[in-house]
Amino acid sequence: MEEQFMKRVLDLARQGEGRVSPNPLVGCVVVKNHAILAEDFHREYGGFHAERNALLSCGEQAAGADLYVNLEPCCHHGKTPPCTEIILEKGIRRVFVGCLDPNPLVAGQGIAQLRQYGVEVQTGILEQECYRLNEIFFHYIQTGRPFTAMKYAMTLDGRIAADSGSSQWITGEAARNHVHMLRRRYTAILAGIGTVLADDPMLDCRIEEGVNPVRILCDSDLRLPLSSHLVKSADRIRTIVACCDPGTVPSTWPQDAESKPRAAELHLQSAELKPRAAELHLQGAEPNPRAAELHLQGAEPNSRAAKEREWKIDQLRQAGVEVWTLPPEPRPNQSYEPTQISNRRQTEQVSDLRQQTANGAGQSRSPLRLSLPALWKRLGESGIDSILVEGGGTIHGSLLREGLVNRVYAYLAPKLIGGECNRAPIQGPGILRMSDACQLLDTEILPLGEDWLVSGVLRKEKSI
Ligand SMILES: NC(=O)c1ccc[n+]([C@@H]2O[C@H](COP(=O)([O-])OP(=O)(O)OC[C@H]3O[C@@H](n4cnc5c(N)ncnc54)[C@H](OP(=O)(O)O)[C@@H]3O)[C@@H](O)[C@H]2O)c1
Repeated sequence: MEEQFMKRVLDLARQGEGRVSPNPLVGCVVVKNHAILAEDFHREYGGFHAERNALLSCGEQAAGADLYVNLEPCCHHGKTPPCTEIILEKGIRRVFVGCLDPNPLVAGQGIAQLRQYGVEVQTGILEQECYRLNEIFFHYIQTGRPFTAMKYAMTLDGRIAADSGSSQWITGEAARNHVHMLRRRYTAILAGIGTVLADDPMLDCRIEEGVNPVRILCDSDLRLPLSSHLVKSADRIRTIVACCDPGTVPSTWPQDAESKPRAAELHLQSAELKPRAAELHLQGAEPNPRAAELHLQGAEPNSRAAKEREWKIDQLRQAGVEVWTLPPEPRPNQSYEPTQISNRRQTEQVSDLRQQTANGAGQSRSPLRLSLPALWKRLGESGIDSILVEGGGTIHGSLLREGLVNRVYAYLAPKLIGGECNRAPIQGPGILRMSDACQLLDTEILPLGEDWLVSGVLRKEKSI
């Protein structure tokens, strides 16, 4: 009976998805004589909590009733008065709680207060389900970093794109609709510039009453074309482009690398030519040999590079994009990035070149790229509690190695596309032994049309 009411509580709580962040999802049911007297949920950030919403609709009848709630009632004044206060006021006899609230302002004190005033409290009703429902809230409040889910669609032979670089569409309609449900659950959605140059995605939420997540792009050298869907819609959907601060040299610079000032200079010289080349590429032009030549000659590096960069930042800002500059880190061995085109297509030199340009190869790469831990810190500090990463293998690989991934959503399509290219969902150096593999826990398999969704959590955020 208790579990049955708690299941109803969880269903109610889910209705707050996309509206209450960074608060938790909470539902509440008031029961008297084995029947539901009132029920409600936390409807919007800053609004009343679930308990208050439900109890306000009960009137005097609440006296002597039982109250079910998935999260420990709060006992502090925040944007709204404490829930323990109204529970006591209304004369609730027993409270059934799913799980405790780790928020230091609550952390067991809500329950202690209720018991102190004679209310019977039982905890741990469907505890695992209750923790899972609010995994984002628990992670964010305990670490200050966004809860991070990595999502990709993959063929049965482990590819996330065809030889051409296209990944639209690997899965069918049901799976793609499910992705939009996921997007509603996360505050932000993130991709690397490789994905944007290949697919020009919108990264929005296309379901009824869906809320668009904040869009975040990792683009060290500002290669994002002004003509992209992301830029063109930035005036109506919050869009953040994270790039490198070219004036900063990473503290982790390798000892045997070139001297720091020289490396920083090289970065300044090369960084600013790339956006222009990518821009030209999207406009259908060939990659700019003159620009590469100028770059090799080191023509007017500082002033020209700085001017182009300023111009690009200005254009992006005018379009409504927020540009964040972040500390860089040394770029690792690039041979892992998915720029190698299969042998079968080697004769198609023109399209290969276009493909390489789209992925950043064929251009000189700056020796620096943005630091993901620094970006995650800043995102956490700015109130972003959760991120759905929909990148290619490069960004996924970096995130896993940094130990930043908490959950995986892998959509599997019963298709085989073969090929020798390295378009796997996770790029970069792998593991040597199977015993080092990242193990997913609490795995679930959900059939979606002709596809499947396999999801699970990386409890210890293990890296590879
Ligand atoms: N099937 C799917 O679910 C799916 C989803 C998305 C994409 N894809 C496919 O994946 C392919 C693109 O793959 P991709 O690996 O190039 O895309 P990506 O992972 O989205 O983007 C990679 C780029 O992100 C930038 N980046 C910035 N900071 C980074 C960091 N710290 N670590 C790693 N990368 C960082 C790098 O460019 P800078 O250094 O210039 O910043 C890097 O080249 C396309 O073919 C696309 O269609 C498939």
